[in-house]
Amino acid sequence: MKTSYEIAQNYESNYWNNRKNDPVGIIHDLESSYAIGAHLQAQGILNFEYDSFLDVGCGGLGIGNLWLINAKNKYGLDPLTILIPQANLLLDNFINNIQSKTTYIKSKAENMPFDKNIFDIIVCNNVLDHVDQPVQI
Ligand SMILES: C[S@@+](CC[C@H](N)C(=O)[O-])C[C@H]1O[C@@H](n2cnc3c(N)ncnc32)[C@H](O)[C@@H]1O
Repeated sequence: MKTSYEIAQNYESNYWNNRKNDPVGIIHDLESSYAIGAHLQAQGILNFEYDSFLDVGCGGLGIGNLWLINAKNKYGLDPLTILIPQANLLLDNFINNIQSKTTYIKSKAENMPFDKNIFDIIVCNNVLDHVDQPVQI
């Protein structure tokens, strides 16, 4: 029998495989960061360039909030393989640019392969309800 994690990740895998060819869906996903983006903006967090930023569960296109936060060293962690977009030339360029500036780690957040206290800022958006061990993460 499949675990709830396996069922959820099967859904996520299909979701992102469809998304990579769907410009309107990608725009919808970008818009879904509005609430967290507005919060970060209100806190003044978007006004700085950070040394290092980690997006935990950055999604199958590797976008997450990586496009919103300015950092010299950006990391995206997700158990899924990061896909190449083929949706629309302008959006593809936008995503390719994010991907080219990000180091992706294919891993579950329960086993993050990082030393402690190395990131200036970490975002984890719309992920904890997907995982087996949210408290550990
Ligand atoms: C709803 S998507 C959210 C993606 C992105 N954070 C965003 O806001 O667009 C949930 C993501 O969590 C990832 N995920 C699921 N279990 C995870 C885990 N244990 N550790 C890290 N990421 C996980 C999935 O692969 C998926 O990409």
